[in-house]
Amino acid sequence: VHVFNLDALTYAGSLENLKELPSPERHTFINGSILDQEFLNGLFQKHQIDTVVHFAAESHVDRSILGPGQFVQTNIVGTFTLLEAARKFWIQENNFQPSQTRFHHISTDEVFGSLAPGEPAWTEETSYAPNSPYAASKAASDHLVRSYGHTYGLPYTITNCSNNYGPYQFPEKLIPLIILNAIEEKPLPVYGDGQQVRDWLHVDDHCSAIHLVLTKGAAGTTFNIGGENQPANMTIVETICDILDEQKPRANGAAHRELIQFVKDRPGHDRRYAMDAGKIRRELGWHPRHNLTDGLLNTVDWYLAHPEWVLAIRKQLEYQAWLAKNYDTREKTA
Ligand code: DAU
Repeated sequence: VHVFNLDALTYAGSLENLKELPSPERHTFINGSILDQEFLNGLFQKHQIDTVVHFAAESHVDRSILGPGQFVQTNIVGTFTLLEAARKFWIQENNFQPSQTRFHHISTDEVFGSLAPGEPAWTEETSYAPNSPYAASKAASDHLVRSYGHTYGLPYTITNCSNNYGPYQFPEKLIPLIILNAIEEKPLPVYGDGQQVRDWLHVDDHCSAIHLVLTKGAAGTTFNIGGENQPANMTIVETICDILDEQKPRANGAAHRELIQFVKDRPGHDRRYAMDAGKIRRELGWHPRHNLTDGLLNTVDWYLAHPEWVLAIRKQLEYQAWLAKNYDTREKTA
């Protein structure tokens, strides 16, 4: 397999992430946008693309609240444009047999909305009820993909996954943000009461699930992926603090927990997510290999061991501007 990695290199993309690839000879980086139809059509033709794994998205909920327009563009129009390129090259021009092609769409558990305490985890049959502009844009893109399968016979699969964590994650998401703020002895912002629940999955386990669905999942199906690790946000933040107390004690000897700062909640904040990953376990034999305790420890170690990666991200003016926009004006509540 040769991988053509198309990336627009917007704020969260970085060539720093490609420096340690295991087989660089099987990888080609292409700088470009999924919004450019002619460019995409040319790529399919030039590289005879037979499989698409569509990760490209605006993915941060807070950003979608402050600026939803980009989410509509990238997540909805971008997915439509990519689907059109695949339809043209695979179906209209008939360059491959359907069994030789696959459009795999990466989606999220947020399309299902929010769970009350005690409600059962989401299955593939649960109705969509997205709450944030981000979640709504992903739900729309899922519907587009499904409709291309139903209407044009485009061979597709969709995976809806829970919160990822692990190396190389852009430090706007909870876990890397808390790790880096704690290392720099900055306040650790916890939204609301910190009792919201997410279903944490190590990125390697997400990737192994995607690989299984691509190679063994039937076209026209969707799979839920989840880590079945569901502590409250506050527990995650405290665990990171305790790990850092061991791995990198503060200069003044105080506990990292003292840096925790409760701040005003995210508008429309979903309370609880939980995925039922029974289908992918039963049908494809997938199971996550990382538990959250080891996964968090390894993740903290990775950020401590990669100061050059952190520095490159930190230097981005856009990132500094985002931190100021989202956090400096956010009211402190305790
Ligand atoms: O569930 C899958 C989704 O998980 C993905 O589809 C999204 O792309 C991804 O961003 C993530 O969404 P969340 O909103 O759950 O992730 P985030 O890391 O932004 O926040 C996790 C929880 O931590 C959430 O309850 C909000 C809270 N939080 C987040 C930040 C950034 C804080 O308390 N403080 C913070 O500074």
